[in-house]
Amino acid sequence: MNKHFDEAYRILAANDRGGYTVPTDRLYPFQWNWDSAFVAMGFATFDIDRAYRELERLTEGQWEDGMIPHIVFHQPSDTYFPGPDVWRTSHTIPTSGITQPPVFGIALRAVHEAAETAGSEDAKARTLTLFHAALKWHRWWYSARDPEGTGLVALLHPWESGSDNSPAWDIALSRVPTSTETAVVRKDTGHVDAAMRPRDEDYRRFIHLVDTYAACGWNPVQQWEKAPFKVAEVQTTAILLKAGEDLLHLAGVLGLDEAAEELAVYNLLTRNALQAQWRPQLSRFVSRDLISNEDIDAPTHAGFIPLLALDLDKDIVDAAAAEMRLWSNGMKVAFPTTKPFVGSFEAKRYWRGPSWAIINWLLIDGLARNGLTDMAAGLRSNTVSAIETEGFAEYFDPITGEGCGGLGFSWTGAAYLCLAE
Ligand code: DGY
Repeated sequence: MNKHFDEAYRILAANDRGGYTVPTDRLYPFQWNWDSAFVAMGFATFDIDRAYRELERLTEGQWEDGMIPHIVFHQPSDTYFPGPDVWRTSHTIPTSGITQPPVFGIALRAVHEAAETAGSEDAKARTLTLFHAALKWHRWWYSARDPEGTGLVALLHPWESGSDNSPAWDIALSRVPTSTETAVVRKDTGHVDAAMRPRDEDYRRFIHLVDTYAACGWNPVQQWEKAPFKVAEVQTTAILLKAGEDLLHLAGVLGLDEAAEELAVYNLLTRNALQAQWRPQLSRFVSRDLISNEDIDAPTHAGFIPLLALDLDKDIVDAAAAEMRLWSNGMKVAFPTTKPFVGSFEAKRYWRGPSWAIINWLLIDGLARNGLTDMAAGLRSNTVSAIETEGFAEYFDPITGEGCGGLGFSWTGAAYLCLAE
């Protein structure tokens, strides 16, 4: 075991706040939804109990209607904006009012399998409880975020994508007013160089959306009607489908026939819908702006995430692989979250270009699933060596390889534990 594994363990221990892990100290001082799912998979490599605990603590924030919020504010902190006073949700443990990509089901299968391998006695009981929470959340996705039954789920806020300031949102977000009822008092730029973060104007639109949905009392039907930002998104939908497949597998293991049938219906609907988002002229999948009813063709990494959840025909796999190679060509650290060097590409600004270990993790699984074993191995060793060279940064400048954003980052630690040999 090399010193980098020790550092990954140290980071997860340092960011532990009592059964849940903050993404990094100060910049993100609460429990974040998809961060915790990745972190649980990291824990599953050496501490099964703690892996389950991470998921269990996240479900403490689950709403009655099934949504698992993107932030659970277990304890107060004044180092982050927007806090619970801005969200104004009514959950007993304060939470945000929006969600995040449903990696949870993928993590649950990984944790369950690690627990079975380790011979954990309470694995089945703990998995069962979390399975029901996950299924309830998947039902919420299909009812609240795909009320017309298209098979693609929609995001009502860029933060729900986890890729907050991606160029994919530029057009859709430009329609959202910059006026806010809530005063925008950013804290993030006190922790990290402002040049690596979303712009003030983005934040004003982000908070305008929060104010709009708070005024709907966080009612999903009203939010759907009032939403000035509504995007049927391929990354989230692909993650939902992969999680749906993993939950279907667990339903089999747990002998839950009705749940299995329900999940099989969701998965089939979504598989067909996602497949239909392939655009041969772009060699990638595209999201759809549900307000303009147009494709979002901004070139971002999300266009390749469907490989994670689909078994694609060879001509599609070959075209996607060729496009991915083009984007990676000359990059010190792949995979850039925006195509280099289009106008919107910014090598250090958060989701507008930088490479992220957890995105690479999803892409590696997608490449491997579709038979691109050498590309998967190449991206894996590139990711591992970026972390070994630069440390456990939030993300990496793809051109220089420099570690950027927050440091001592939990999900980068988890990615290292799962990707390094
Ligand atoms: C932030 O505050 O930067 C987060 O990404 C929102 O979840």
